[in-house]
Amino acid sequence: MLVLGIETSCDDTAAAVLLDGRTILANVVSSQDQIHGAYGGVVPELASRQHLRNILPIVDSALGKAGVSVRDLSGIAVTRGPGLVGSLLVGLSVAKGMAFRWGMPYVGVNHLEAHLLAIHLEHEVSFPYVALLASGGHTLLYCVQDVGEYLYLGGTRDDAAGEAYDKVAKMMGLGYPGGRVIDHLAKTGNREAIRFPRARLKKSPYDFSFSGIKTSVLQYLKSQDQHAWKARVPDIAASFQEAVVDMLINPTVNAAIAHNVNRIVLSGGVAANSRLREKINESAATENLQVYFPSAKFCTDNAAMIALTGHHWINRGRRDDFAVNADADLTL
Ligand code: KG4
Ligand code: ZN
Repeated sequence: MLVLGIETSCDDTAAAVLLDGRTILANVVSSQDQIHGAYGGVVPELASRQHLRNILPIVDSALGKAGVSVRDLSGIAVTRGPGLVGSLLVGLSVAKGMAFRWGMPYVGVNHLEAHLLAIHLEHEVSFPYVALLASGGHTLLYCVQDVGEYLYLGGTRDDAAGEAYDKVAKMMGLGYPGGRVIDHLAKTGNREAIRFPRARLKKSPYDFSFSGIKTSVLQYLKSQDQHAWKARVPDIAASFQEAVVDMLINPTVNAAIAHNVNRIVLSGGVAANSRLREKINESAATENLQVYFPSAKFCTDNAAMIALTGHHWINRGRRDDFAVNADADLTL
């Protein structure tokens, strides 16, 4: 079965072609980071306009790289939410148009579900597993029992982990998106230099909160002379990152132990973080848990994970009709 995946939920225009749910024939992503970088965050109107410009060339490029034509496809999978509604509509309209013109099935995919299943693009991982999805828009913890069976364990009460990275990077003038820059700078910093607080929600052990650390970094910067903190940017980055990583790892490992599940899967843009990967491996080894992460290109937004999720649903006989709409707040 040959599935075309289309992803336009935020600021990346992406298309991928997946054969039989396991062989990625093409995976094309056009990032808009340079456009939004000047504003320090994604500007929805600019994102949807850029998707409009990019989407057809990106779909063509994916089909070309895969060496297939539209007629060869068994179906189309497209993100229908959650995300920016104007952005979602671009991908969804193209998918519906293609499905209508070529008379093929299409399914609207939940972006969160796709992140939770992305690990299967590269690794054989049995169900169940505890999955931490940490991205710019979400920080969620699920027990994934099977395709379509997602037990919600917890989520962020305020900012997403990636959002905290992006906001802290902005405070220090490091550009957007901030996660990769902070990850890089932290490598030369001292993780113990500043002890930022780790939020713990006693009554909800699997929930997260990142607004406190963001404020703590801001207060720290304000308490220092600008020349002084600028000289310490790697230390601030490393200390901030250590706190965020601790706040992500503790609920995840505790959830796996409490639910008697010995596999942990990381996903979402923040799962590309080098310190998170290193430290969760250490904690998991102590607790006899196995940890799996997708490679960085499948942690961040991509269409291969959308094609994979669509593959499962099309295989199970699901067919969406043309009344399906974009849903900015779609939940799992
Ligand atoms: O999954 P994603 O591409 O898009 C969303 O659905 O949000 O995640 C993007 C987020 C951004 O906040 C970015 O700063 C963060 O992932 N990110 C990272 C790293 N690479 C990307 N955060 C920490 N360390 C990284 N290496
Ligand atoms: Zn995402």
